[in-house]
Amino acid sequence: SASVPLQYTTHRYVGSAVAAAYLADEPDYRAVLTREFDNVTPENEMKWGTVEAVRGQYDWSGADAIVRYAQAHHKTVRGHTLVWHSQLPDWVAALPAAELRRVLRDHITTEVKRYKGKVRAWDVVNELFNEDGTRRDTVFRQKLGDGFVADVFRWAHAADPAATLYINDYNIEGVNPKSDAVHDLVKTLRRQGVPIGGVGVQAHLSIQYGFPGQYRENLARLAKLGVDVAVTEADVRIPTPPDAAKLDTQADYFDRLWDGCQSVRRCVEFTTWGFTDRHSWVPDVFPGEGAACLFDENLRPKPAYTRINP
Ligand code: XIL
Repeated sequence: SASVPLQYTTHRYVGSAVAAAYLADEPDYRAVLTREFDNVTPENEMKWGTVEAVRGQYDWSGADAIVRYAQAHHKTVRGHTLVWHSQLPDWVAALPAAELRRVLRDHITTEVKRYKGKVRAWDVVNELFNEDGTRRDTVFRQKLGDGFVADVFRWAHAADPAATLYINDYNIEGVNPKSDAVHDLVKTLRRQGVPIGGVGVQAHLSIQYGFPGQYRENLARLAKLGVDVAVTEADVRIPTPPDAAKLDTQADYFDRLWDGCQSVRRCVEFTTWGFTDRHSWVPDVFPGEGAACLFDENLRPKPAYTRINP
């Protein structure tokens, strides 16, 4: 592997999604994470469906373990995620409007306060928009109206004023109707004094669909709103089985993702959604695609890793 770990090659935070179970059970996984990255994002451990699957019964075990690991190894934590329609407990979705509002406020306050001072940045709102730029029709929107977005940022800010609060979404890497909508919303919220401090572009890419158009320009226009920008969940999936040509294309995509972030001063973080093909959400969710990470199943660096860290 390269002589200089990835985290030391840039001033940006370089992160990965991590799972508490692998961190506990797999010393080689833990060693590569510790060596290469200086930010961790809990892959599932901070989601509502994990921390409070049953009303009033909290399970912070996974989240606590990841935060403890981060503190012990001087890594920052990206909290993920407070308000999301997915991995949302059924009991939450079933609440009447007034109660949902109270419970949502409690959820945000409880979780953000628990990790106050230990989470650098929060993905407060995740995946708010449809591809055409309209608002996704979630229970939050149906019951609370579009104004819930401003409210949840204010609640999170009250719980930890020092954390940078992000809106996060996928397919907003390039300039398109969805990223236009994110851009416009952030502009409006900033004008209203809502404490939003960043935009996260997930960057779940596939070599089958082409590299997003005007990626760099898009990061720059978001940063121009006065917020930080972060690549929060980068992976580049390839039709299986991988071969040399596909891995080379993947390397090119990762390189362009990386370089775009390096070229925008306020792009402060580059985080991948897992670092090893041994543990990636891709094969489960995208049949026929896989091998989306920087390291292979044996934790050997792939061409994509070598391209961004020659
Ligand atoms: C994924 C996890 O990786 C999976 O383990 C889980 O089963 C589903 O969620 N966008 C997000 C992440 O914001 O939270 C998702 O994580 C991947 C897509």
